[in-house]
Amino acid sequence: MYVCLCHGFTDRDVRGAISGGCHSVAAVYRHLADRPQCGKCVPEVRGMLSEQRRANHGGGACAPCASVAQAESQA
Ligand code: FES
Repeated sequence: MYVCLCHGFTDRDVRGAISGGCHSVAAVYRHLADRPQCGKCVPEVRGMLSEQRRANHGGGACAPCASVAQAESQA
């Protein structure tokens, strides 16, 4: 299912980013598309992050994924 029509990414893409270590809405966008355009998909991404945290991490934070860690180290 498409989550973001502006950038064309799916729930599978978001779940892959989250399982790869993206632990915030901003990290998911940096990993998949740089930043939201219209923002209509942000609540869905936020919900998927919350769902994944509850399921996998008990609400704890994850290490950043490789692409986010690289972007953050260059900032
Ligand atoms: Fe994702 Fe517009 S639907 S930025």
